[in-house]
Amino acid sequence: MKSWLAALAVAMTVVGCGSAPDTDVEVFTWWANGSERAGLDALVKVFEEQHPGLTFVNGAVAGGAGSTARDVLNYRMGAGDPPDTFQAHAGKELTDYILGNRVQDLKGLYDENGWSSVFPEQLLQLLTVDGKIYSVPSNMHRANVVWGNADVLTRAGLDMESRPENLDDWFVQLDRIKAAGITPLAIGKDWTQVHLLEVVLLARLGADDYTGLFTGRTDWRSPAVAGAVADFGRLMSYTNSDFQFLDWEAATQLVIDGKAAYNVMGDWAEVVFREQDWQYDVDYVAFPVPGTADEFDFLADSFTLPVGARDEGGAKAWLETVGSVEGQKAFNIAKGSIPARTGIGTDGFGTYQATAIASYMSDDIVPSLAHGAATPVRWLADITAAIRQFDTKQDVAALTAALIAAAEQNRS
Ligand code: GAL
Repeated sequence: MKSWLAALAVAMTVVGCGSAPDTDVEVFTWWANGSERAGLDALVKVFEEQHPGLTFVNGAVAGGAGSTARDVLNYRMGAGDPPDTFQAHAGKELTDYILGNRVQDLKGLYDENGWSSVFPEQLLQLLTVDGKIYSVPSNMHRANVVWGNADVLTRAGLDMESRPENLDDWFVQLDRIKAAGITPLAIGKDWTQVHLLEVVLLARLGADDYTGLFTGRTDWRSPAVAGAVADFGRLMSYTNSDFQFLDWEAATQLVIDGKAAYNVMGDWAEVVFREQDWQYDVDYVAFPVPGTADEFDFLADSFTLPVGARDEGGAKAWLETVGSVEGQKAFNIAKGSIPARTGIGTDGFGTYQATAIASYMSDDIVPSLAHGAATPVRWLADITAAIRQFDTKQDVAALTAALIAAAEQNRS
């Protein structure tokens, strides 16, 4: 009896019986706290101005650059209880939901709003599968950025304006910082290390071979990959020992507190430096990871329309705000990212963000591994598991072997 009651409850939820009034729009993200929440709030403000009859319902689940949220989402989608719209990265991350027919084609909404001509072609390609388009991008972040505390660099006897050109130059700097008794590189748990591994692979392989790792063109068994994994292992030897307990905010905070010199993180970190009233290039430095100056390691957040959303009209209204000039401008100024739409200009954006806009226009664009652009979720999960193993054993050869195995199991 219990099972038919449960089935009925799920069915009632799907058709909306007894659910919240359909002016409620549940938006599912992982922007629950701090600077990320501030970005979401800026977008919600525009949504409320553009759609006064609708109520934003915050379905955020914190942590892990979305890893916790993705687990909760997966469960809800499986139980027939999708939110009205959810955050996902542009690129391969949506593969399973698209193949499983869990998200709707948004081509009609694109046509109504003329979006096919306002988002860059390369981004549209990442969002399109078999001629259908499954999400609306809100922003673009650059992942290959080093953030540094100017005061700490000076304390370690470094010229804060000197930028290491490649990883080898950077190692020389990191040794000097270590000799000065300061933690050279702040890091956090699993996914932040995948993020570090990704930029090291990019620095050593270059744009084409790095991208080829995910398309099958580059062999994970190559000596270049083994060398990059060894460099990753070496970088990990310069880090704080409590990393397993820290998410990105706490790792960035070590830099702000002067307990570490550098951190590698996507440019959502910029907002945290700005919130301290710190000035770019005076109190903090930000530069491309050494060896990646000509690359924009890219990720974009985007929003979907799940099959079975209770308030499709409300969800479409949210998507319209996400794609609008006003929504993109307000959100990205607050989030540290740059607009996914072209033609918004640099007015109102900070000095760091102007550098990202320039880089996006002129550099090679490559897909982020840690943030869903390069691989389906299961491949990233295998790489993250390999990194966790590395954390306990510090075995570079075992990590290389696990990365090769992950590629062989997941590459289609
Ligand atoms: C990324 C996301 C960013 C930011 C970051 C840290 O995956 O795209 O917008 O939220 O995680 O949580």
